[in-house]
Amino acid sequence: DNGGYEHYLLKEISEQPDTVARTLRGRIDDRFHIAHLGGLNMDARETRSFRRVKIIGCGSAYYSGQIGAQLIEELARIPADAEPASEFRYRNPVVEPDTLYVAISQSGETYDTLAAVQELKRKGGRVLGIVNTVGSAIARECDGGLYLHAGPEVSVASTKAFTSTAVSFALLALHLARVRDLSPADGRRICEGLRRLPEQIEQILKLDEQIKTLAEKYAHSPSMMFVGRVRGYPVAREGAQKLKEISYVHAEAYPASELKHGPLALINPDMPTVAIVPDDELLDKNLTTLGEIRARSGRILMIGHRAADAADDCVVVPKNETELDPILLTIPLQLFAYHAAVALGRDVDRPRNLAKSVTVE
Ligand code: BG6
Repeated sequence: DNGGYEHYLLKEISEQPDTVARTLRGRIDDRFHIAHLGGLNMDARETRSFRRVKIIGCGSAYYSGQIGAQLIEELARIPADAEPASEFRYRNPVVEPDTLYVAISQSGETYDTLAAVQELKRKGGRVLGIVNTVGSAIARECDGGLYLHAGPEVSVASTKAFTSTAVSFALLALHLARVRDLSPADGRRICEGLRRLPEQIEQILKLDEQIKTLAEKYAHSPSMMFVGRVRGYPVAREGAQKLKEISYVHAEAYPASELKHGPLALINPDMPTVAIVPDDELLDKNLTTLGEIRARSGRILMIGHRAADAADDCVVVPKNETELDPILLTIPLQLFAYHAAVALGRDVDRPRNLAKSVTVE
């Protein structure tokens, strides 16, 4: 049942205030400013013992894992990184006892991710799952984890599972951080930020008409560039992925600082740039990048927390805590891809050549 929406994708984008609230429900402790994650099956001593976090997943799950790695590194100060599960399993990875492995999957059935988890288990790795589908193969294979509680996701392109995964990582990062060095005050700041998310997502959804107009303006470009720095970079990657998947417009995502090391050569009026520009300590650097794009006659659509003269168009979203902003910055890009796909007459919920869950090698 698509609940009166023309497409499941729009329904699932619109559900996000509720799905994020469901991911958070019962998991924030306001007394000690910690996360309650009963399914991890790890005591405090064990939780403290990890020296590294490795996150694996495929497609959008991998990009949400990149947001997760940044959250863990920023809040818990544990080195963390994300890698496509497929690459991980094919390269005979070193599996270490003091590394915490986290596998991400909406369906819980993606074969590459499952095979990576099985390989990890064979080598004695400790694996948590961040999974939407209860009782799925990946959930069963893991030592513990968190369910998203986002409800079934029907549209092939992932939206609500993406945001709920990022929120789950914020909870996991808070948990890992508060058994280490994160102060109660910073714990409180993150807890309060998490609680604000559903209402702020609601506000972003109200930008739908503006984003639709922008999508119709840019959808006919042969190609688009997506850029972001640090926290903005996984957002840019996911934005490019959404556009590719459902509108078939070619899109490239680059770290903003890498533009000048190659892809700046591509910038011209036919290749607009979507720039993710959060109001963080990198704002000035990002505005410089916008200037460089503009100097090459590149058109710019900026997603950020305030308008900037260097951009042709700006979508301004509410600000949360810096660490949590990537979650909110993703949502305009979901709507952008959706409206671009509709404008181009694509089969939004079932894009060509793709399957919702890839259960083969
Ligand atoms: C892809 C889907 O093939 O699998 C993506 O098209 C999805 O939308 C990816 O992100 C991973 O799926 P899952 O179920 O493991 O999160």
